[in-house]
Amino acid sequence: MTKPLAGFDNRVISEKSFTLPDTDSQPAQAGEEIPRTTTPAGSGFFAGKVAIVTGSESGIGRETARELCRQGAQVVLNGLCSKRLEQTRRAFWQAGYSVASCVADVTDYAQCERLINEAVQAFGRIDVLITNASISMRAYFADLTPDVFRRVLDSNVYGSVYPLKAALPYLTESAGVVTFISSISALNGMPSGSAYCAGKAALINLTHTLNLELHGTGIQLGVVHLGFTQNDDDKRVLDAAGLAVPIAYRNPRWQMSQSEVARAILKHIRKRRTKTVLTPMGLLINFMTCYFPKTGDRVIRWTMKNWKRFYE
Ligand SMILES: NC(=O)c1ccc[n+]([C@@H]2O[C@H](COP(=O)([O-])OP(=O)(O)OC[C@H]3O[C@@H](n4cnc5c(N)ncnc54)[C@H](OP(=O)(O)O)[C@@H]3O)[C@@H](O)[C@H]2O)c1
Repeated sequence: MTKPLAGFDNRVISEKSFTLPDTDSQPAQAGEEIPRTTTPAGSGFFAGKVAIVTGSESGIGRETARELCRQGAQVVLNGLCSKRLEQTRRAFWQAGYSVASCVADVTDYAQCERLINEAVQAFGRIDVLITNASISMRAYFADLTPDVFRRVLDSNVYGSVYPLKAALPYLTESAGVVTFISSISALNGMPSGSAYCAGKAALINLTHTLNLELHGTGIQLGVVHLGFTQNDDDKRVLDAAGLAVPIAYRNPRWQMSQSEVARAILKHIRKRRTKTVLTPMGLLINFMTCYFPKTGDRVIRWTMKNWKRFYE
């Protein structure tokens, strides 16, 4: 069996020139150069390790990537919007982090293969894969167009399956860690989030099944159920017709900060856990779902009647 995370070649990557695309969101191009930096890996728990974080041009993914860099990892950033991805990469580079980036749609397998190939080309190996990219929604199932359901489900299921499938040979070689970013809404479902909850819940079974299949390879899969977290101001989710709309209001007092969440994700990885549930509300839902499911559902139905704003 491969020794976990051993034998890393702590080499310095040579700077490559690249041009910043002048449109906001461009489809990934086959063979597009992976921007990278010259900064060597730092010190910290993840020193000498290479991590890919999908959907890391913004939000929680960006903070998780930043925390990985702080703890010494060499990190490959990913997203759909080339301009924003490049802004993030450049900010990390200016902070002295060892970072590369790759525009790729994680719901497209060929683009995931390119993401993985370019990560290996940049840093030589893959030790950690965090599948964070996701599209969320706020719409009741009765109103939802089938296409919106599919898009949300695809981003949460295939957006995790495809990068993992493409990275599997490298993760096997490094006895690496895979972390699926899920939600506390996957634990018991959430009204107005059917496709999102279904997609996030699928990751639970996928984790379990693959840990059984891959037992003995050294690869460790785990799922982190995030609770309410501070969002970027421009975060958008899909409505019933597929329009990008602001996320439903959440009381800031119930939210963890993105950096708190990032640190919790890294702790989960360091401890090689299979499941982590964040926030007191997440722990309560987990407990109620296991031991008092009917009472939990009664509470949710009450909130649907009395806290409409929470779901709509
Ligand atoms: N925020 C919360 O309260 C909360 C709660 C529970 C779970 N989570 C989970 O935490 C993760 C991060 O959430 P967030 O709030 O940071 O979301 P976010 O701000 O919407 O960030 C998601 C990122 O994923 C990218 N992305 C979406 N689809 C992609 C695709 N097909 N290929 C590549 N990149 C793609 C987005 O890029 P573009 O912007 O260019 O589309 C964006 O950078 C998600 O998995 C989410 O479900 C969040």
